[in-house]
Amino acid sequence: MQRDATIVVTGATGQVGRAVATALADEHHVIAAARFGDAAVRAELEAAGVVCVPVDLAAGALDALPDAPTYVVHMAVAKTGDWRADLDANAQGLGRLLARCRGARAALVCSTTGVYADTGAEPYAEDAPLGDNHGTSPYLPTYSISKIAAEEVARLSATLWDLPVTIARLNVPYGDTGGWPAIMLDLARAGIPTEVPIGGDARYAPIHTDDVCAMVGPLLDAATVPGTVVNWGGPDVVSVRAWTDYLTERTGVEIPLVETATAIPSVVPDLTRQRALVGEAQVRWRDGFDRMLAARYPDLVR
Ligand SMILES: NC(=O)c1ccc[n+]([C@@H]2O[C@H](COP(=O)([O-])OP(=O)(O)OC[C@H]3O[C@@H](n4cnc5c(N)ncnc54)[C@H](OP(=O)(O)O)[C@@H]3O)[C@@H](O)[C@H]2O)c1
Repeated sequence: MQRDATIVVTGATGQVGRAVATALADEHHVIAAARFGDAAVRAELEAAGVVCVPVDLAAGALDALPDAPTYVVHMAVAKTGDWRADLDANAQGLGRLLARCRGARAALVCSTTGVYADTGAEPYAEDAPLGDNHGTSPYLPTYSISKIAAEEVARLSATLWDLPVTIARLNVPYGDTGGWPAIMLDLARAGIPTEVPIGGDARYAPIHTDDVCAMVGPLLDAATVPGTVVNWGGPDVVSVRAWTDYLTERTGVEIPLVETATAIPSVVPDLTRQRALVGEAQVRWRDGFDRMLAARYPDLVR
């Protein structure tokens, strides 16, 4: 990764993008592109040295962004559940972003392992069939399809603009800025159970945001035309039941699980390509969960 780079980071107000933008700002000139509905988050980013440029990826004009930053790191995602809005932001918005920043040296487009068809043939390698993995979820009905559309836009953009791209399919990120395990804890404290698939145990490869941040540079270095596709996960395969038990052990909060036909299915990624391209994530899940709990729930931790 080039030193002292100018990096456009989208989604910098979000769970993962915020950690990434802040970490990159230690050594680079970071331009955060988001709508910045939360003034406090914007102020935090600016305090970390990030330049904030308001843009709406779903609504066009991106002229305020540089046309030739060194890199683009795309972490934005729309999950409104409205098909038109989410396809506009996730697919067309990415197309407009990469067209605007086409003079970049490379782009990292964050995708999801939620693009894999739920065939049960885990672990899923990058050439596994794609499908509407999250389609049954009432909370994320547009997610898988709009992310598949986004991946294709990324590949087309790579070819159109001769812009090397890495499409990294992230599994379950977590850390100081939150994540699914933290959401489960928050829901439980509000008396709301977490849905899990019927008759089985959903398993994932949770990845701490420190590892996510550390891998951004190597993933940019792995970018190609017409696009490098790679799974992006942590060092351990962990079931939702196992991490639930651990969260309860560490906090005393009982987290009710309810089996439903609409729960997000198990997605264990095959990380062979990740290991070859950028190496293994370092933070083991119990250590990472402990750090997340200490950062977010200091009063709860036993
Ligand atoms: N979190 C997970 O469990 C998970 C799992 C697998 C993959 N991923 C992937 O990781 C990446 C980051 O996800 P996340 O969970 O950190 O997202 P998030 O917390 O939901 O944040 C979404 C970000 O996208 C921005 N955004 C949404 N609509 C926008 C629009 N129309 N124009 C401009 N910006 C817009 C939001 O900024 P404003 O609201 O300020 O505009 C926010 O910064 C995504 O690619 C996601 O698919 C996440």
